[in-house]
Amino acid sequence: MTLTKDRPAEWAAPGMRRMKVLAVGSQKGGAAKSTTSLYLATRFAEYMGGTQECPIVGLLDRDGTSKNLSEMLRLHPEMVRPGVTILDGEDLPEQSSGLRLVVIDTPPGLAAIDSLRSADLLVVPVIPSEQGVVNLVQYLRNIKGQRVSVSPHMRLLALLPSAVRNTRLHREVLDAIKDIAGSYDPPLPVLPPIPQRTAIEEWNLDAREYDAAAKELFEYARI
Ligand SMILES: Nc1ncnc2c1ncn2[C@@H]1O[C@H](COP(=O)(O)OP(=O)(O)O)[C@@H](O)[C@H]1O
Ligand SMILES: [Mg+2]
Repeated sequence: MTLTKDRPAEWAAPGMRRMKVLAVGSQKGGAAKSTTSLYLATRFAEYMGGTQECPIVGLLDRDGTSKNLSEMLRLHPEMVRPGVTILDGEDLPEQSSGLRLVVIDTPPGLAAIDSLRSADLLVVPVIPSEQGVVNLVQYLRNIKGQRVSVSPHMRLLALLPSAVRNTRLHREVLDAIKDIAGSYDPPLPVLPPIPQRTAIEEWNLDAREYDAAAKELFEYARI
């Protein structure tokens, strides 16, 4: 039995645990979408007990403008941790793939909303700059306006402040992000911020800075 890419995400064979789809989205380039996708896929695979032989999380690169993430990982396969597999193309795998979760890395700009198609869950990384906040507000508005046509059942799980430094500006912008999250309907959680670190810039997956946010998000996601 084959599952077409357009079949409703709810569908799964009897007794089969349905694969969930988590998008990491933002309209802004350089908002840490690709970095966050990689860390979340890696940590979630750890939590769910994925192995080299039985990967449990698929990473899907829908950023057609750059393909940064998938190309980097194909060049450096040693960076892909056990339990994670890099998916080809931009379509979801079949429910029978054995994967419990697909993490989608999404593009910035005009294609940002369309790339959320078939997503069940969404997390939004935000970098603490004035432009980051302006983009966040626009993005949340666009999702509200277009979710019915793109992914009507998608749950917006949380905001994730990223590449945060301990400066007055960043503290102020973090407060603004919390205000935006609090006034969203329904209010959104703000995950523990990810600090700006060279280890993260280098995709050192032993860096633990994503752990607190990943744990909290994993609970919200109920995968
Ligand atoms: N927490 C962080 N600390 C340091 N550098 C970071 C952090 N998060 C992201 N970066 C860097 O910021 C840049 C943009 O991140 P990236 O994940 O590529 O964003 P996007 O996919 O949204 O365009 C990259 O060079 C990345 O390594
Ligand atoms: Mg990217």
